[in-house]
Amino acid sequence: MDVIEVIVTKRGKGALSTEQIDWVIDAYTRGEVADEQMSALAMAILLNGMDRREIADWTQAMIRTGERMDWSMLDRPTADKHSTGGVGDKITLPLAPLVAACGAYVPQLSGRGLGHTGGTLDKLESIPGWRASLSNDEMLSVLRGAGAVVCAAGSGLAPADKKLYALRDVTGTVESIPLIASSIMSKKIAEGTGSLVLDVKVGSGAFMKDVAHARELATTMVALGTDAGVRTVALLTAMDRPLGLAVGNALEVAESVEVLAGGGPADVVELTVRLAREMLDAAGVSGKDPAEALKDGSAMDAWRRMISAQGGDPDGVLPRAAETMTVSCPASGVLTRLDAYGVGLAAWRLGAGRARKEDPVSFGAGVTLHAKPGDLVREGQPLMTLHTDETARFDRALAALDGAYEVGPASDPALLPLVIERVT
Ligand code: URA
Repeated sequence: MDVIEVIVTKRGKGALSTEQIDWVIDAYTRGEVADEQMSALAMAILLNGMDRREIADWTQAMIRTGERMDWSMLDRPTADKHSTGGVGDKITLPLAPLVAACGAYVPQLSGRGLGHTGGTLDKLESIPGWRASLSNDEMLSVLRGAGAVVCAAGSGLAPADKKLYALRDVTGTVESIPLIASSIMSKKIAEGTGSLVLDVKVGSGAFMKDVAHARELATTMVALGTDAGVRTVALLTAMDRPLGLAVGNALEVAESVEVLAGGGPADVVELTVRLAREMLDAAGVSGKDPAEALKDGSAMDAWRRMISAQGGDPDGVLPRAAETMTVSCPASGVLTRLDAYGVGLAAWRLGAGRARKEDPVSFGAGVTLHAKPGDLVREGQPLMTLHTDETARFDRALAALDGAYEVGPASDPALLPLVIERVT
């Protein structure tokens, strides 16, 4: 097979054959196809798309480059959730132990943040002692003991995607629905979960800026999961404003613990409970209602077991940033807009995120919000608190927030509903 012929087929808007796809993914993983050739192909796919059959073949070819996990030895069904990423999206933290407390096993392989969106592993690593890297045997043992495990994907899972995602990241080829869908679903299918709920974020803080594109991504991923025998549903959810009141690693852990203790911001609680119900439904588990498990302490018990089983101290003191700055409200009225991207960028610049994969994150850095869109505010009241370890970062964070919020007379800001649509 000739890689130039594969590139030229896609450049000319042709459909790649199953054989071409199998070969190019395998040859790229083995190093026989060079990065520059794969990036030309990725760009041709970004520009000219792939049909459903090609996307399914591409996904299966990536799965075959690595191991496939299997949880059939467990005595209860498995369910997982994947979010396409957003600002203040800490939902996995309360959700995984909550679903475990309601009777399904949650084996979740998660990632780190890159750019303005946070990563679940970075958040959990702010807990003293907590370890993200587990062997498959350790993963099974945490799952059996706590009902849920959240850890890093090992190098053996869809290695083609690891290599290709890193390449896409530096060649302007991330924003392609076929490539995003196959990347996410190859890892989720290889992870071996029996059911999967996808939280596809929509808005300025998300990959997908509008509902139409988010719907197309969701539909593509649901079809890939279903065809692979994974019961898959998707929710399109709002990411035009941040989720909850905390953005930043340790700040989000603290907010998640509030939710597990039966409190926490209304939007985080609502989305956590809704996703938990979807996961339990997809897994065919009926029993305790998730709202009840947040109230009666059973979700908190599962969280404590899950954190301890991975070396973390659930009572450990979370890191705090050395410096804080208050941003005050410029006028009295209603907060009509609080842009997710602006807040995410500010948190990133304060040190909560990383510019390159190898950079460390500051666990205490981030933004705490004191008002959300729709709230009545008064001139001079604190609107947000910025947290950082280096005061020099405040100016860059303030620049990110310039124009990111508005106070006006309207009492009904134009916001996306928290849950926009369900895709099956
Ligand atoms: N997350 C992934 O895992 N892959 C993508 O392509 C985009 C987001």
